[in-house]
Amino acid sequence: MGLRISPSILSADFANLAESVAAVADVADWDHVDVMDNHIVPNLTQGLPVVEALLRATTLPLDCHLMIDEPDRWAPPYADAGAGSVTFHIEAAHDPVRLAREVRALGARVGMALKPGTAFAPYADLLPELDMVLVMTVEPGFGGQRFMADMLPKVREVRAALEGRDDLAVWLQVDGGVDESTAVACVEAGADTLVAGSAVFGATDPAEAVLRIKAAAERGHAPAAPR
Ligand code: DX5
Ligand code: ZN
Repeated sequence: MGLRISPSILSADFANLAESVAAVADVADWDHVDVMDNHIVPNLTQGLPVVEALLRATTLPLDCHLMIDEPDRWAPPYADAGAGSVTFHIEAAHDPVRLAREVRALGARVGMALKPGTAFAPYADLLPELDMVLVMTVEPGFGGQRFMADMLPKVREVRAALEGRDDLAVWLQVDGGVDESTAVACVEAGADTLVAGSAVFGATDPAEAVLRIKAAAERGHAPAAPR
C-alpha cells in the first residue's frame, strides 16, 4: 500500500498560490484544493477559475475536495477542467452513482467524502463506483482544527470493507488535523492518503514538513515489532 500526501492549499498564501504549490511540488503527491460554497460548510473559498489557474501553475495533479451544494451539477466541470481527482460530499449528492460515473467518464478519479456525523455503512455499496473515500477528521470548513481521534473507527471500518476486495482500488483519505503525530494513527487505522494543510503551509519549510509527515506515516505503516 503506497502512502500519498496531499497538502491542502487552504492554509497557503492565497496571494501567492503558484509559489506555495511550487514549494511542495517535489515532495508531495497531490495538491488538495478545498472548494467551499458557504452552503454545506460555513465558509467560502475558491472555485473553478482558481482550479484552472492552478492547473497551469503546478505539475502535481489536483485533488479537489468539493464542500458544495448540488455537486451533481457543479462537480463534473472540475473533472472536465483537468482535475486529477474530484471528491463530492455524500450529504449533498442527489444521485451519487450517476455523479461518480460522470466524473470518471470525464477522466478524473472520483471520491466520496463523509462528514464526521455521517456513517459509512449506508454507502458501502457505492465502493465499486469510487476511487477514493474521504473520512473527515474535523468538521469541514476550516483549516487548523483539532484532529478528531473518534473518527479512527470509521477509517478502520472503511479499510475493513476494502479488505479482500481485489476488484476494487479505492484509496482511503483522511483530512483534518493531520500532522506528524496524528498521521501515525491514521495510517495504522488504514488510511493511505493524507491531507495536511496547516501542518504543511503553516511550517517555515513546507517541503520539509511534507517529508516529516511522510516519515511519520511510514512509522504507522511499519510491521509490528516482534514481542
Ligand atoms: C477542512 C478542509 C481541509 C483543511 C485541513 O474543511 O477540508 O482540507 O485544509 O486543514 P488542516 O490540515 O489544517 O486541518
Ligand atoms: Zn479538504
